[in-house]
Amino acid sequence: MDPFSSLIRTASHEQHVEAETSTFMTDLLGGRLGVEAYARYTEQLWFVYEALESTAGGLAADPVAGPFVRPELFRLPELERDLTRLRGADWRAGLSALPATRAYADRVRECAERWPGGYVAHHYTRYLGDLSGGQIIRDRAERAWGFPRKGDGVRFYVFERIPNPAAFKRDYRALLDGIAADELERQRIVAECRAAFALNTGVFRELGEEFELSA
Ligand code: HEM
Repeated sequence: MDPFSSLIRTASHEQHVEAETSTFMTDLLGGRLGVEAYARYTEQLWFVYEALESTAGGLAADPVAGPFVRPELFRLPELERDLTRLRGADWRAGLSALPATRAYADRVRECAERWPGGYVAHHYTRYLGDLSGGQIIRDRAERAWGFPRKGDGVRFYVFERIPNPAAFKRDYRALLDGIAADELERQRIVAECRAAFALNTGVFRELGEEFELSA
């Protein structure tokens, strides 16, 4: 039988391609959108990570989700520094979640409160992605909008406390393989991972509508 880390990866592969090639992401990474679109996207991430990280403490002792809760992954302080650069010191005043973002954050919170396995699905979908493709986004953002390399504006993509992301990802996959969940629960987690990708695509869709390029 395939290890769980392979299973979850394969199961979300198609949706990964869909997210990567969404109109908003392609336009953003293709340099066709302004820094305003990047700022709006960063604001949406704030809501998602607020849901993931404000609930993490309560899961630290959980046998299923606990092993995944690693403070070196936390992104909220970095997002807040980025938003200060992007929006100014009073960034909180103008912060607003798109409906798709609200739905995404609500689902994360619901899993954190009621279903640790579901929380793991959301944790995997965000943090393993940030440790991978996130580096591509950082590079483009630095070039397009002139942020200091790995500095304010792109700190979200910089894991200062994870010097070797490849090794970290290997350990993370080993944690997934050993997750305290039976076969049925593993299937449910995979399904939630697909749902997590769909929630991300939903946010991209709404961002795409807000930042439509004129033909
Ligand atoms: C333009 C946007 C994106 C790019 C360029 C990108 C690129 C990548 C790359 C290069 C990898 C590394 C694969 C490997 O380790 O061999 C990866 C992995 C991953 N990405 Fe993305 N990605 C993007 C968007 C997303 C989004 C929106 C999500 C979900 C929120 C996501 C979730 C993941 C996950 C979970 C993995 C880890 C797969 C695994 O090894 O288990 N990515 N991505």
